[in-house]
Amino acid sequence: MDTVDEIRDKIRQRFVKVATDPTAPQRHPHGPASAKKLGYDAAEIDALPSVVTESFAGVGNPLVLHPVRPGETVVDIGCGAGVDSILAARRVGPSGRVVGVDVTAEMVEKAKANAVAAGVTNAAFHQGEADRLPVGDGTADVVISNGVFNLCLDKPRVLAEVYRVLRPGGRVQMADILLGEAVSDEQVVQKGAWSD
Ligand SMILES: C[S@@+](CC[C@H](N)C(=O)[O-])C[C@H]1O[C@@H](n2cnc3c(N)ncnc32)[C@H](O)[C@@H]1O
Repeated sequence: MDTVDEIRDKIRQRFVKVATDPTAPQRHPHGPASAKKLGYDAAEIDALPSVVTESFAGVGNPLVLHPVRPGETVVDIGCGAGVDSILAARRVGPSGRVVGVDVTAEMVEKAKANAVAAGVTNAAFHQGEADRLPVGDGTADVVISNGVFNLCLDKPRVLAEVYRVLRPGGRVQMADILLGEAVSDEQVVQKGAWSD
């Protein structure tokens, strides 16, 4: 069985590939076609530069769970190449801001470049872990996350971080994958089964 450090390393390696080689075959759906299937507005996706959407790797659409309003501060945990951050930055407008955090340096660099490509100036991106967010206490109105919680090894600690960074009355808008059936011990120990 993989150690925790080995699993962390494999997660990073997987998303380095999604960031740097988005046309390579991946185990999970990604890119603009996947975003449209998951309920994003097709016109909004098509209007983004293709470099922005090519590394989209979300599993749902956290932005449809509740409107993100002008002036709000949004934290995007596991922001990847920044599609949700960029769409949120447009919704919060010049009086709001978005902070995207991702553990994979290549994703963070791509999100920064993508924000420039999309003409977004109110989003900042930082490399960091979901369980140690580089964000102050009580500073976020909204925490969004898309396809990341399932990859986090210490989920209670991530939830504690979400609670720490949210202001009282703030909200969480999260899309993620859930198991619908039991998993055998053999499947759990199978190499790579942590995220297949
Ligand atoms: C399935 S992708 C989703 C990316 C993005 N949210 C999107 O919708 O395109 C998962 C992302 O989470 C990041 N990630 C994985 N584990 C993380 C952790 N512990 N802390 C922060 N980011 C993490 C990965 O680097 C990857 O960019």
